[in-house]
Amino acid sequence: MSQHPKLEIKPLDAVEGRDLVVFLSDELALPGRAEALAGPGAQALLTRSAAAERFKGKALSALTLPSPEGAPYERLVAIGVGPAGERDDLDFVKLGGAIAGRLGAGREADVALVLPDGEVDAGQAAELALGLRLRSYRFDRYKTKSKDKDDAGSRSVTLRVADPAAVKKALKAAEAVAAGVLLARDLVNEPPNVLYPEEFADRAKKLEKLGVEVEVLDEKELKKIGMRALLGVGQGSRRESRVVVMRWNGGKGDEPVAFVGKGVTFDTGGISLKPGAGMEDMKGDMAGAATVVGLMHALAARKAKVNAVGVIGLVENMPDGNAQRPGDIVASLSGQTIEIINTDAEGRLVLADVLWYTQDRFRPRFMVNLATLTGAILVALAQENAGLFSNSDELAGRLTAAGLATGETVWRMPLGKAYDKMIDSKFADMKNSAGRYAGSITAAQFLQRHVNDTPWAHLDIAGTGMAAKDSEINRSWGPGWGVRLLDRLVKDHYER
Ligand code: BES
Ligand code: MN
Ligand code: ZN
Repeated sequence: MSQHPKLEIKPLDAVEGRDLVVFLSDELALPGRAEALAGPGAQALLTRSAAAERFKGKALSALTLPSPEGAPYERLVAIGVGPAGERDDLDFVKLGGAIAGRLGAGREADVALVLPDGEVDAGQAAELALGLRLRSYRFDRYKTKSKDKDDAGSRSVTLRVADPAAVKKALKAAEAVAAGVLLARDLVNEPPNVLYPEEFADRAKKLEKLGVEVEVLDEKELKKIGMRALLGVGQGSRRESRVVVMRWNGGKGDEPVAFVGKGVTFDTGGISLKPGAGMEDMKGDMAGAATVVGLMHALAARKAKVNAVGVIGLVENMPDGNAQRPGDIVASLSGQTIEIINTDAEGRLVLADVLWYTQDRFRPRFMVNLATLTGAILVALAQENAGLFSNSDELAGRLTAAGLATGETVWRMPLGKAYDKMIDSKFADMKNSAGRYAGSITAAQFLQRHVNDTPWAHLDIAGTGMAAKDSEINRSWGPGWGVRLLDRLVKDHYER
């Protein structure tokens, strides 16, 4: 994806764009070096305008003014950063988002990256740049009228910083993560006639350019391996199923960390057909797989010192004369048998095979899977948290911490014997649906029957991975949720 706006890092010695962005605290005093850039008259103008507009410097609030007489720029954009006492809570990713949200189409801006009471370090500057990128993303590939493209955001942003060399270095990693998130967003937003399993696999294959090894398993190979649960879901579709294995070997010969994604490129429910209203949203039922691809992109692009594998199961769930039926019994790769109660509980069938395959082939240090698995997780947590299920307190704790650090928060849900019993079947080893009660938990229990003893976590992202609400850093239907979370998990605990 092309990255907008153009981002440059320069010293705090000039203003070249038409907008100058400055930060103000509740005291409304321009930081010294920003005042020098803003020029004579700027502080007085700000003080008067702030009073008139009731601008109090609240974090992420903004005030836009015409520049003072004689200034080399057109607009002064003041962004609030809150009182000094609350500065530790200042989220620089959101701050970058707030800036991008304020700059209109085609603008060229300089940002004076100095706070009222101190320096912005290189890491914070990079986070701000990440927020700028994320907020500026638009998915307008299928809009042919240029007026619809007009909200595309600013043309270029120059960050004016005290130490350009340090910021440029930190920016590289941030740009890698941003590119990973935007790739995930693109995949989630693509329509299902364009992005079917084979096309998805082709897009994943492009990671080879970054040094990722990519293997695409076709139906013949999947049959040979024995992924019958996954193939059963895809058998009603005219499109062939695929499994993609991505490997980034940036570490030193140790066991990899593993990420697994549900990639149902469209979920009609199959024979247990979904109601029509809102069914178009089920193009996003591959968000888990999109996040895994985005994460692998991020890790490779920033040359993370870790061995990581990403495995995604790609299928389309359609009703058809050849489709799977309620009542069918299939054997998963683990050898266990599954009675199909509801063909709309298809994600767990896909993941059962892919999870088993991943732990069996790679013996990873841990596996994290992401899946838009159940509507019930929206009932429990709305769009505020992903559901976290895990057999490892350590991994769960690390994910929770990474969630708080990135804002991609997770909430741990229970697993246990009594819930596990609910998926016992009259005719087979287990059934794929236990009805409405604790629907997200019984789905997770089903997955747990396919992970062996591997430390594992399941993130149910049906609420967070698609149909996103607007936020300071996202205006896209597909938010690319989880790329930053998992990049953070890797960075904080598994890189050397
Ligand atoms: N893909 C859906 C879950 C979903 C719902 C994702 C809403 C995003 C938004 C999943 O395949 C599904 O249909 N789950 C069923 C399970 C049920 C049949 C046991 C559900 O949640 O109703
Ligand atoms: Mn379904
Ligand atoms: Zn689904």
